Order: sequence, then C-alpha cells, then structure tokens
Amino acid sequence: MSEVHTEADILFTGISQLVSPPPGLQRGAAMRAINVIPEAAMLVRGGVVAWVGPARSAPAAAHIHDLGGAAVVPGLIDPHTHAVWAGDRLSDFEARVSGVAYEDILARGGGIRRTMQATAAASTADLVRLARPRLLALQASGATTTEVKSGYGLDFAAELRMLEAVRTLQSEFALVPTLLIHVPPTSGRAEYVRAVCEELIPQVAAAGLAAAVDVFCEAEAFNVAETRTILEAARRAGLPFKLHADQFQTLGGTELACDLGALSVDHLEVSGPTQIAALAASQTVATLLPGVTLHLGLPAAPGRRLIDAGAAVAVGTDLNPGSSPVYSTQLALALAVRLNGLTPAEALSACTVNAASALGLQGRGALAPGQRADFLVLNSSDWRDVAYTLGISPVGSVYRGGLNISI
Ligand code: NIG
Ligand code: FE
Repeated sequence: MSEVHTEADILFTGISQLVSPPPGLQRGAAMRAINVIPEAAMLVRGGVVAWVGPARSAPAAAHIHDLGGAAVVPGLIDPHTHAVWAGDRLSDFEARVSGVAYEDILARGGGIRRTMQATAAASTADLVRLARPRLLALQASGATTTEVKSGYGLDFAAELRMLEAVRTLQSEFALVPTLLIHVPPTSGRAEYVRAVCEELIPQVAAAGLAAAVDVFCEAEAFNVAETRTILEAARRAGLPFKLHADQFQTLGGTELACDLGALSVDHLEVSGPTQIAALAASQTVATLLPGVTLHLGLPAAPGRRLIDAGAAVAVGTDLNPGSSPVYSTQLALALAVRLNGLTPAEALSACTVNAASALGLQGRGALAPGQRADFLVLNSSDWRDVAYTLGISPVGSVYRGGLNISI
C-alpha cells in the first residue's frame, strides 16, 4: 500500500475538492475565507504537505494514491477533552434530566467529585485501558490531534497518574496534555491553592507532563483571585495557560485570562458583551463546546457574535462523563453550526487552524506546504458534508503525517 512510502513523494489524486483554511490563527471574517480547490491533487513528502493544487498541474511523484473522487479536508484538532476518567455519571444524568441542576449535584458532593473518587481509585494502567477506546472514537471521527486534561485527581498523586496515562497513550495518538486544576477540596482550599502553585505545577513542568495549565473558574470551583494565583504560577513555571470560564456565571475569569495572555478561554455559554469585547481585543482563542449546550441544556455560547466582533473561535468536544459525553469531534463541528451559529467554513477553521492555536501548536491544521499531512478523506465529494451529517460519520479515512491511521 502507498502508506508505507513515508519518505518518498506520494501524490494523492482523485480529490473532488481539497479544502483548507490558510495556516495560522484566523479571526473574525477571515474564518470564512477557506480555499476550495476543485479536481485537486496533494503531494506529501516525509509526512509533510509539499504541494497542493489543481490535478492538471500536479508534479511527478514516485507513488500515486487515487482517492476516488472524495473531498479532502484537514484533520480535525480537538482542543478540549477530559478523555481520562474512571467510573460513570449515569445516575447524575438520570437526576439531571429529572430536574436537578448540574451545579447542585456538584455542590452536594456528586458530579465531578464523584468521578474524582472513581479516578483516584484507578491505577495508571486502568486509566490507559479506559481512555484508549475514547481516543480511538475521537480519531475515527476525524481528530488527528487531541488535547487531554487531567483534573479528576483527588490528590496530586492521582493527578500525576492521569498525566502519566496520557503520556503512555502518546505512543498511539497525537495528544496534547493539560494539567487541569478542576475543583478545590471541601476544606483547606487556601492551602490547596498554595500547594498547586508551589508543588504540583513546578513538578509537572519539570517532568514535562503537561503542555499547559487550565483552571475551572466558576462559583462551585475556583474564584477569580484563586484563578489568577494559579495562572501566574503556571507562567512562572514556563507553561502557557487556558481557562474554563463563563459556563454558568460571568465571574471575570474571561477578562482575567485575556489580560494575562491565555491561549484560550473555553465554554463561554453565558458570556455577554463585556466578555465578547475582551476576547475580540485579545490574542486569546474563544473555544466553544456545543456538546455541553446539548447535554446540559445550557445556553449556546455566542459563537456568531464572537466572530462578528472579530474574535478567533475554536470548537471542541469537551468529551467528559458529566457535561459532554460526545465522542465525535466531527459532531462538535456540526453542532457548532446548529447551536452557535457558525457557517460550515467557520466551523472548519474553528476545528483546525484555530484549534491548533488554542493549543499553541504551529505547523498543523491546514493543507498547505510545510504543514503536517494530517487529513480526512470524506465519504462524499462535497466537503460540506463534514458540517452537515449527524449520527453517522462522514469521515471515510483518517491520515496523520501522510499515513492512513483508520481502523
Ligand atoms: O468542561 N465544567 C467543568 N469541567 C468539565 C466537566 C467535568 C465533569 O462534569 O466531569 C467541563 O464541562
Ligand atoms: Fe472541560
């Protein structure tokens, strides 16, 4: 098969449409300015895109792989998941759909705290075994790079086991690990924040176990002052940072994160004009998680208004057992069109180049020379199927670094 020719030139032909945003962060109206090349070809050399253009002008190559008239788009990048956990939240789900609020379940010691108990009792090997099928599902849905957070560790040892599980899985998947400071203990929170800043973050940074630090800034989690303390500790340790904010209340976390230069602020379901203006005026990516809107019945984050204000928007699944049991990055893209008001082209930019920027990654997310050859061959000759189809995957095969990794 052509996939074995990793170092030699391989020319992919039979592409009905080759569709991509330009490389790099796209904000505002630029998110809609994607390139569509009809009857295209793509040359891949050493796992990197070497040339794209009309098939009639394609260069000669040692190997040719005919994709049979399919549309090709960049591999999706899922910038927000909690794919490592143990236990389940099925009784929380049943209570919630009978009328008990997510925050009330958490305040009573359930929700995230329930997943923390199950995760703390799991070994690293258990966590790897539980996360693998979830990551395979995301990959089959089109994710060629996936962020994975810790955050269900009741104590620091459990947090480190979660990050070690991610490190183990990095040999099978392209993963970006994030240290998530999720909820404080029920007593001794000042001491906990101190230990996070002085012990956990420096230890994780020194071991190279996380690429960024995240905090859940919310009434039932960390307040703005605590969040600032933790983000400043991340900065001192040389780690970029991001934030969960404006999911239930606007506490000021979004404004703080923009001010401190966060990579992204994620959730934003209840963001208003002040938060939209702060994001639009910053380099911080606004990451939407439409699975949460669907599963918790929350308001939809103001995706349309963010883009119209000039912000850079990304989209992710937020795969987790409590607020978004969504195992498909393509579904998150498709939901962002329905729930957050993105156009299909904006949603494609959100799930590729902007998601890469939300993770601080360069060199992937677009199909252009010099970019890693991560791409999806759709079960369709029209790229818009990636934003249209619900409930069955429009993704035919998944290529990472020029190799077909479909199972
Ligand atoms: O991104 N909101 C906070 N954290 C996760 C949910 C975690 C959970 O419910 O287990 C989120 O929605
Ligand atoms: Fe999350």
